[in-house]
Amino acid sequence: MENSKGCGSSTVWLSICLLLIASAAIVATYGYATVQVLKDSIPHSSLEATLSSLRSQLVRFDSHLAESEAGNPSYAERRKELLLEIQELRLELEARAELLGSNSSCRRSGRAQNTQGLGSPSSFEQSNEWCEIDAHESALRKPHPPELHLPKVFVYNLPSTFNRDMARKFSRCSTDQYGTEVWFHEAFLQSSARTTDPEEADFFFVPIYGECFLWFWEMHKKEGRQKSFDYTNQLFKVALNIVRKEHPYWNRTEGRDHIFSFPGARGPTIFSDWRTHIGKSIFLTPEGDRTIDYFNTWKDIVIPGMESDPVFYLPSSRAAISKEKDLLAYFRGTIDHWEGNAYSKGIRPRIRDLLQNETDIIFKQASSDCDRECYHREMSRANFCLCPLGWTPWTLRFYQAVMTRCIPVVVADDIEFPWENEIDYSRFAIKVPEAKIDTLVELMRGMPEEERELRRLEMDKVWLKYTYQRPPREGDAFHMLLRELARKTRRFKHSSQYTWT
Ligand SMILES: *[C@@H]1O[C@H](CO)[C@@H](O)[C@H](O)[C@H]1NC(C)=O
Ligand SMILES: *[C@@H]1O[C@H](CO)[C@@H](O)[C@H](O)[C@H]1NC(C)=O
Ligand SMILES: *[C@@H]1O[C@H](CO)[C@@H](O)[C@H](O)[C@H]1NC(C)=O
Repeated sequence: MENSKGCGSSTVWLSICLLLIASAAIVATYGYATVQVLKDSIPHSSLEATLSSLRSQLVRFDSHLAESEAGNPSYAERRKELLLEIQELRLELEARAELLGSNSSCRRSGRAQNTQGLGSPSSFEQSNEWCEIDAHESALRKPHPPELHLPKVFVYNLPSTFNRDMARKFSRCSTDQYGTEVWFHEAFLQSSARTTDPEEADFFFVPIYGECFLWFWEMHKKEGRQKSFDYTNQLFKVALNIVRKEHPYWNRTEGRDHIFSFPGARGPTIFSDWRTHIGKSIFLTPEGDRTIDYFNTWKDIVIPGMESDPVFYLPSSRAAISKEKDLLAYFRGTIDHWEGNAYSKGIRPRIRDLLQNETDIIFKQASSDCDRECYHREMSRANFCLCPLGWTPWTLRFYQAVMTRCIPVVVADDIEFPWENEIDYSRFAIKVPEAKIDTLVELMRGMPEEERELRRLEMDKVWLKYTYQRPPREGDAFHMLLRELARKTRRFKHSSQYTWT
């Protein structure tokens, strides 16, 4: 893009320019109120389209700037103008969102019955707190949120030894970052997506708490790795026998429409014989790793790890986060591992070395002198939260960062994120290739405050989608899961072995 172009390089551009020039002239003549009238007559969707076009221009502008024109003052000038235009449109959209909030969304809070649509209000309980977010969200949402039909999910009623017995005894099974196997089971049972008639089901959820079971034998009973895996393998096989023998639905599709929750980085491999038994089924897993063969992006669904601490996931506690960001960047976690550079490919120690002289960055080994509350507080103070890979690409701190309005900086080449069909990650997160970590500091320092704020506003729109609200509600992770399932609904139910006549 050339800096001399100004008005006229594209139709959208032209219309914004005209709008701005007209507004400026009118402000000069009649004052603010008239501009308001002028703007009110512009439809919402076109304002949003304009905003998004401005933002992508900014991105193109910046990449051009970085390549060839760094330091050219007229570029800097033009960039500033662009940001101001973005800011103005954003304020307008926000003002409209407020109007909307005072009107519609909370009136709808009696919304009892599900309308079958997933883009529209669902049957989840509404609280006032949520209404505010809902109004904000609905006003800023993309012009055409896809309409999806609520899928129908049948939940197998397995004996409680396969699931609830353990979760009742050990609360960690539902509260730590692997708690989603318990969570999804309960959420499906309560959801309006649930059907008790398997004949009409699109999907079948098989509630086996495998991660909890494995933990019980390996960590609690200290039975050793091999034995614990053998027991867990057995658990799955026995449960699957029930599913296969007592119902015709598994054999019909060879399990293609059956869902399993595997909440840990090991995914389905906690069930040693998974490939033979459930290789065609849908896995819910936090590990969207493109390099492993037990995650398949076409079949499986990436879910957020579970953050069950209310200080992170409650809208009210998010609202209380201070706006002040006095740290440039933040990380606390494992840096040095006794297995050396096999862990994090040696990237975490290298980042620490790179950052050693920076006074406004905390990059430290996790330690007992900073508890969860301290961790949350420090994270909230940071502009950027570093999320380098550990053993595997995904890390819970990515979601914690979004929840604390800290811009996540991902260093994990092969990662796939949850809900990528609906969330444009480049609008708020930063991703740096593992081979380019020496550009990290420059990248973060170089991002102007206005741009940081834009990214925080983007996070305000999506953060709820990573949370597991209690009970589940519209817009949270469970709701997003239903939307993903809706996309995977298949009408074809016949396996290879069927005789058709
Ligand atoms: C708010 O409600 C009033 C009266 O029902 C209506 O005229 C107005 O258009 C509504 N505003 C928005 C932004 O929906
Ligand atoms: C499904 O197939 C398995 C193995 O072929 C068989 O043992 C089982 O009885 C079948 N289930 C039903 C309900 O027919
Ligand atoms: C940090 O400062 C020390 C002492 O001035 C210097 O030797 C070292 O190279 C610096 N490290 C980085 C990454 O800039």
